[in-house]
Amino acid sequence: MNTQLLKPAKENIEAAAQILRDGGLVGMPTETVYGLAANALDADAVSSIFIAKGRPSDNPLIVHISRIEEIEKYGLVKEFSKTAKKLADAFWPGPLTIIMPKGESVPSVVTGGLDSVAVRLPSHKVARELIKAAGCPLAAPSANLSGSPSPTTAQHVFEDMNGRIPLIIDGGSSEVGLESTVITLCTETPTVLRPGKVTLEELSSVLGNVNLSDAVLEKLKEGEEAASPGMKYRHYAPKAKVYLVKSDDKKFIDFLNSKDNNSTAALCYNSDTEYLNVKSIPLGDKDDYDSQAHNLFSALRTADTLEGIDTVYVRCPKAQGLGMALFNRLIRAAGFEVITLE
Ligand code: TXA
Ligand code: MG
Repeated sequence: MNTQLLKPAKENIEAAAQILRDGGLVGMPTETVYGLAANALDADAVSSIFIAKGRPSDNPLIVHISRIEEIEKYGLVKEFSKTAKKLADAFWPGPLTIIMPKGESVPSVVTGGLDSVAVRLPSHKVARELIKAAGCPLAAPSANLSGSPSPTTAQHVFEDMNGRIPLIIDGGSSEVGLESTVITLCTETPTVLRPGKVTLEELSSVLGNVNLSDAVLEKLKEGEEAASPGMKYRHYAPKAKVYLVKSDDKKFIDFLNSKDNNSTAALCYNSDTEYLNVKSIPLGDKDDYDSQAHNLFSALRTADTLEGIDTVYVRCPKAQGLGMALFNRLIRAAGFEVITLE
């Protein structure tokens, strides 16, 4: 199969919509990361997502809509509760996924057999146009091969999906750069399962009490069940060995400069680069978590293209606000290996 990369012109969106209606897959831009989309109400189409990605079938997908009314129109949930409406009004369209009790029209392949369903209304204009043109809700995981960093450009999707899907719509680089915040309303107290651009602090200001799932910041214990199946899989990992480094500026630089500069790279702040003797990939300014989030996955992909590099050291963010989402992705890329320099 030849994979086409097309700009989001009207006729190309229409072509993509036709592929989706016919049960095919399309690479779709969103403001968080690119998605690999299929008609969410077509079980066969959804099954082919798992094959294209090499994704375990017990890891459920997010259903994307273009207007809030589509939740009830398509029968996606059992009940669209007051709490859910409050969240939707505050954060949609945008990078928040809400988990609710599943409606009957959603095939169980979408939810990995769970009786809950994840729904998101993205803010990316092209994503919404595509959902609207397709005339159905779209199930879409991140459009990477299972285990590799999520794609934030159409080119990243092409690297992973070339030959596996017919079409990718190129909507530019994803602004946020990290996947959506996932919150479940199926627990007594709403619980964040995956942190993202919509922060725990922002969610608490709308809902009051919000819990944070243990798996967000810590490794699951042997035999412990993940509230979100995606949390148990190795994630975002480049081929090189990644370590998170907790330290001040000077110690970070001294530590890196004591390493072999042929095989070591640093994912660092802009201000570090001029002092480092090893290969450095700047993520952004020190306190600019927006830039760091935007650049992270692309930087992890770049690290893998550097000749001879087998070890990557990364600056450790504070696990607050958007920093929590960065920390959550990095700690997984690092297989929970943190080096503290004191
Ligand atoms: O920003 C995003 O959310 C992107 C774009 C394309 O929208 N999508 C994305 O999908 O990141 P994916 O499949 O890579 O991540 C979905 C996460 C997984 O960790 C999955 O386990 C969890 O959401 N999830 C989905 N449905 C769930 C459910 N019913 N209960 C618990 N977790 C669920
Ligand atoms: Mg993913």
